[in-house]
Amino acid sequence: MGKVALVTGSAKGLGRDIALELAKDGFSVAVHYRSSKKEAEKIALEINKISKSIIVSGDLTNEKDVEEIFSRIRREFGRLDVLVNNVGNFLFKEFSKTTNAEFRDIVESNVYSTLYCSRAAFEIMRNQKFGHVINIGSVGAERSIIRHKSIPYFLGKNAIYVLTKTMAFEEAKHGIHVNMVSPASLETDIFNTREFPMKRTAMPNDVVSAIRFLISPDAYYINGANIEVAGGFVPGIV
Ligand SMILES: NC(=O)c1ccc[n+]([C@@H]2O[C@H](COP(=O)([O-])OP(=O)(O)OC[C@H]3O[C@@H](n4cnc5c(N)ncnc54)[C@H](OP(=O)(O)O)[C@@H]3O)[C@@H](O)[C@H]2O)c1
Repeated sequence: MGKVALVTGSAKGLGRDIALELAKDGFSVAVHYRSSKKEAEKIALEINKISKSIIVSGDLTNEKDVEEIFSRIRREFGRLDVLVNNVGNFLFKEFSKTTNAEFRDIVESNVYSTLYCSRAAFEIMRNQKFGHVINIGSVGAERSIIRHKSIPYFLGKNAIYVLTKTMAFEEAKHGIHVNMVSPASLETDIFNTREFPMKRTAMPNDVVSAIRFLISPDAYYINGANIEVAGGFVPGIV
């Protein structure tokens, strides 16, 4: 059995690109979706042309769903080398207008999906004495950022940063690496291209390059790190 990766939320968006690129690197990939079944099937077919894939589904804020996903991975592959915690919703809305349900969804989809999936992955990785967990953050995640229209999002990403450090500290002795990759916006719906120091948004391949490095032997002693893939962008200046 070759190397195995699970990329959460990989039916579309950034997760889709990460899953496809890992497949090109020879990984068998577990494609995960919650509601985008058709898109998940499409990417799985694409992956099958170059590697092997399975499709797993579930709400990652639900422990039971996470348990089932990881049982399936154990059954199908018997191992897990890379987990990319990519799921994490975003909301751009004034704090006073953000409902409790929306606030909860942003925090839970970012923090609890990362917590539950990482803990489930560690159980497999400890036995292997090997594994990489990559948490997808967002530029600025290392500090508390108070942006009126993205309060729960930055709260969640900052919590993921703290989790990354803590989990790396605890799991390093088991041969497990936990790192974080924090992109600037991949879209231009909030910021205009001209507002980015390098005059463009981040692109999925910029993120993939950082992941490739972090899971490579060259990054062996890098554990608990956060790589910003942001072209010099600093939230708060713009
Ligand atoms: N896009 C950007 O500009 C940007 C910038 C910086 C950082 N990031 C980070 O990069 C990551 C990916 O961003 P993205 O914009 O590509 O993501 P996205 O399209 O908003 O979401 C990816 C997938 O997450 C899944 N999802 C949401 N809540 C879930 C839950 N409770 N349980 C299971 N799956 C759930 C959805 O799957 P289904 O469709 O199947 O329901 C969705 O397709 C996120 O962590 C984000 O914070 C993105």
